[in-house]
Amino acid sequence: MESNKIALVTGAAVRIGRAISRSLAEAGYDLLLHYHSSASAVETLAEELNSHGSHVKTIRADFSRPGQIREMWQRLPEEWTPQVLVNNASVFYDSGLEDSGMQDLELNMQVNFRSAYLLTKLFAEQAADDSNIINILDTRINRYDTQFIDYALSKKLLTEFTRVSARILGPKIRVNGIAPGLILPPPGHTISYLQQKAQKIPLQRAGDVQNITKTLLFLLENNFITGQIIFVDGGEHLL
Ligand SMILES: NC(=O)c1ccc[n+]([C@@H]2O[C@H](COP(=O)([O-])OP(=O)(O)OC[C@H]3O[C@@H](n4cnc5c(N)ncnc54)[C@H](OP(=O)(O)O)[C@@H]3O)[C@@H](O)[C@H]2O)c1
Repeated sequence: MESNKIALVTGAAVRIGRAISRSLAEAGYDLLLHYHSSASAVETLAEELNSHGSHVKTIRADFSRPGQIREMWQRLPEEWTPQVLVNNASVFYDSGLEDSGMQDLELNMQVNFRSAYLLTKLFAEQAADDSNIINILDTRINRYDTQFIDYALSKKLLTEFTRVSARILGPKIRVNGIAPGLILPPPGHTISYLQQKAQKIPLQRAGDVQNITKTLLFLLENNFITGQIIFVDGGEHLL
């Protein structure tokens, strides 16, 4: 295998994760594409990236089952140690204090925060100089919305972890976060759902996946930035 840099993207098969994977492949990275349930989408993406000259491996793990993250890491072939980790996988649905049990909080914490925490530890154990972690957050980290509480809490925790891990893991590893706003409509909604919501934000329009991928490539390229959270949200964090 040629010695391209290797990037591991979680939740790589669909939507923003797929766009991130494509942009990294275009930038010359080989890809470890993590997926959970999108088996056929990840195979299609792997074929596409392979046909454009990237080396690609797909790896499955359910992040709601903590043991699977470590198992996934142990299954990585030796020559596939990543220099870039993108923690993108997430669950996203409305839940909070009105729910009867703790399952929703636990699921949000497991998938959205704990997976990134554990992968960061595993990544750091074998990282080379000039490695990078990018955590995908959400513009909600700046707000006190009364909906999506469990989701927002998990992303707020990941925000704190982004900053503290940047302190701990320098100088070898830079750790940064991207906080998207209205980029893709949730499943079951069309773009008009985003356009309607966008009327309230300063730029009065939705963004697109290129807004995320450009920010990610900028953070990887600019080697004097760590512990930074960039809001890619048309100004929504100012509301
Ligand atoms: N869409 C937006 O406009 C927007 C706005 C703000 C923030 N964000 C953030 O941006 C990131 C990507 O957003 P998105 O809308 O593209 O997300 P998405 O469509 O909901 O995709 C989430 C990914 O997470 C993976 N995932 C879900 N449950 C999992 C589990 N139990 N174990 C392992 N992986 C699991 C899925 O993998 P499989 O498909 O393989 O199951 C999927 O690839 C997320 O972190 C999200 O919070 C997005």
